[in-house]
Amino acid sequence: MKSLILAGGLGTRLRPLTDRIPKSLLPICNRPFLEHQIRLLAAYGVTDSTLLTGYLAEDFAPFAQQMRALLGIELRVSTEHKPLGTAGAVRSRLDDLDGTTVVLNGDVLTDLDLGEAIDFHRAKGAAVTIVLTPVDDARPYGLVPLDASNRVEAFLEKPSELVAGNINAGTYVLEPEVLSEVPPDEFWQFEQQLFPSLLEKHAPIFGFISDSYWLDIGTPERYLQAHFDILSGRARASVDGTVVSDAQTMTDGTTIVPPVLLSHAPVGPGATLGPLTSIGPGSHIGAGARLERSVIHAGADIGEGAVLRGSIVGRDARVEPGAELDGAVVA
Ligand code: GDD
Ligand code: MG
Repeated sequence: MKSLILAGGLGTRLRPLTDRIPKSLLPICNRPFLEHQIRLLAAYGVTDSTLLTGYLAEDFAPFAQQMRALLGIELRVSTEHKPLGTAGAVRSRLDDLDGTTVVLNGDVLTDLDLGEAIDFHRAKGAAVTIVLTPVDDARPYGLVPLDASNRVEAFLEKPSELVAGNINAGTYVLEPEVLSEVPPDEFWQFEQQLFPSLLEKHAPIFGFISDSYWLDIGTPERYLQAHFDILSGRARASVDGTVVSDAQTMTDGTTIVPPVLLSHAPVGPGATLGPLTSIGPGSHIGAGARLERSVIHAGADIGEGAVLRGSIVGRDARVEPGAELDGAVVA
């Protein structure tokens, strides 16, 4: 089975982190986000994937090469010269598809049981299966009401009222024929165009409700939350570095308040790291700095005595000595 991963968005809600790195390649616990998704696909035997890219597309080829070498999978990169939207991007690869296909939004961290979702799709004889996850506030997502047989009744993207319900989790199992609705080379969205149009024609679209871990990493709060969830063991993901889960005080007075992800990075004396902090390789943490609930990317430099809470420091960025940051994004 083949998969397509939507990774062409601008990542505006994560600016300025996404000024130089596409959202789908931002590090999560020191590994490019997409690596987590590609490992999930590979775990279910989906080893032939195409990344659908646009914004900062040139960054994806080296990543794909790394993944092919690391995981022994087929991974191609397809680039839109103008944004085609979520359905238009998938439509552009129609000629490569040969049967039931998995489509993923390239910003969703999940432990979804993909095998179960595919079995459900087949058992229902669905044209599209939308994986759903329950949330308390559907406003940032696509709300998907179902009938008693799990057939989709409507697709309501970004509802304006606060309402709880099952939302589109950004994973679709689909039959390529449904893409014939999408005009080639035009901007088309699954959410506002293809799904509503298929529903109008009574196409069999079903919702598979998953209670597995799920998070869209697309805002600073949720990007941090992904780290907290991995470090505290709520979400499963491979990390680069060592997760320290015992409190420790070193002879130079550096204190670790677990859980903390450490990597090869010098830490000055008397620093306090954690809880829920991730340190990128080749970064530098100055003497006496205090970092809690924060994510430091590779090569960043945290000045002496700086205090960071709930903050993200991007690749090679520098925080001045003595600075105090709360909920900041530095790039
Ligand atoms: N190739 C390509 N081309 N990819 C795109 C394009 C495009 O024109 N536009 C967006 N994408 C990619 C983004 O990079 C992202 O990985 C994915 O499509 C979804 O876009 P987001 O911008 O993150 O959408 P969202 O989070 O507001 O909403 C979507 O995801 C929710 C779940 O996380 C919708 O699908 C909602 O219905 C859903 O609930
Ligand atoms: Mg998103």
